[in-house]
Amino acid sequence: MVLLLIALALVLAAVHFLPPLLYFVYAKKRWLTQPWNFHFVEKFRPRITIINPTYNEEDFIERKLDDIRLQDYDQKMVETIVVDSASTDKTSQLVENWAELHNYVNVKFVQEGLRNGKLHALKSALEKVKEGCEIIVFTDTDSFWYPTALSRMVRYFSDKSVGSVTCCISYEDTGSSVGENVYRNYYNTLRIAESKRWATPIHNGPFLAIRGSLIDRYGIPDFPGSDDSCFGAFVAFMGYRAIEANDVLVEEPMRGSQFRRKLRRAQHLILNFLYTKKYAKQKGLCTESPFDRTWMFEWWLHIINPSLLFGSLTLLILSMVLTQSLISTGLLTVGFLLLSFRPVRTWVVQQFYLMMALFRNTWTRDTMWGR
Ligand code: GDD
Ligand code: MN
Repeated sequence: MVLLLIALALVLAAVHFLPPLLYFVYAKKRWLTQPWNFHFVEKFRPRITIINPTYNEEDFIERKLDDIRLQDYDQKMVETIVVDSASTDKTSQLVENWAELHNYVNVKFVQEGLRNGKLHALKSALEKVKEGCEIIVFTDTDSFWYPTALSRMVRYFSDKSVGSVTCCISYEDTGSSVGENVYRNYYNTLRIAESKRWATPIHNGPFLAIRGSLIDRYGIPDFPGSDDSCFGAFVAFMGYRAIEANDVLVEEPMRGSQFRRKLRRAQHLILNFLYTKKYAKQKGLCTESPFDRTWMFEWWLHIINPSLLFGSLTLLILSMVLTQSLISTGLLTVGFLLLSFRPVRTWVVQQFYLMMALFRNTWTRDTMWGR
């Protein structure tokens, strides 16, 4: 009986760890090394509207606007809409002063009377976007763009098959960012590899560009919790390439409670996998493409796979407690020792977040958050 429990635990652990590992190695070897098979038009210079939501961003908003001002892209082709939701700090004042001081930069300020969350703010801003805007870039205030971010991004849109482009994120170099960067490197590698294959199901809020005509036609997904990652999947279900570009680079500072932030990030990832496909179908979308297989596998990784690890752990602990089995004690010790390797630890911690997020989503979607 004990041996049966242990065997089952080992099978669950193998099914949990092996497919993602093989997927990662395969994606890195097969897809990541491919060139982008796009037809670039180097002279393509579309009009860009940047939408930047703010809630109590007095520490970062000026630096962010400076980043936009310092882009190596013709400012005459760029419009920025800052949409604030009744911040209680100096954000509004700072935006207005900055815009006055830099009147050659086209900044519009939209003030919502009440705070209704980021998604609501993005939709308010979209109402102000002129029809015919070629590219819309959504961005978080606390994300700092390399000066080439816009010019690199538009190159991809010069190919008609591209519907959205997101950035690679790294964390500003501080002591506590090492672990986060392990996670980010893994994620960036997978996202870029999937993009080269066809499309990636996860986009990043710090820089998320979508072809304006697609937003004109279908809007943005607006189920609770859909304010960044799922925009890419939605575009991919339309049959367009939704890509993370390896040369569109953004840095984020680490701020606020990382626990709450990671839990929310995991919750929103899960909502993406639970609802975006359904949402796209309701809109009459879901064109077949190589994206379907990427979606299926990532769906498995986010929704099912974490529970296998917990199943395995529970069985081992049970067999150890009930029968004092030496084998399970040994296996648990080995597992524990493996946690001293940062990639293993980062992976396992992320599985905890995904499991907690699955539960937490049953009572809150965390559409408005503090820090
Ligand atoms: N206008 C407005 N109204 N803006 C908001 C609100 C709101 O109620 N709440 C948050 N924001 C703005 C913030 O000011 C920031 O510019 C951006 O939305 C992201 O919020 P952060 O507080 O920086 O959250 P984060 O760093 O954890 O963001 C990550 O997770 C979010 C969802 O879980 C990013 O990936 C975001 O893109 C993502 O939406
Ligand atoms: Mn942030």
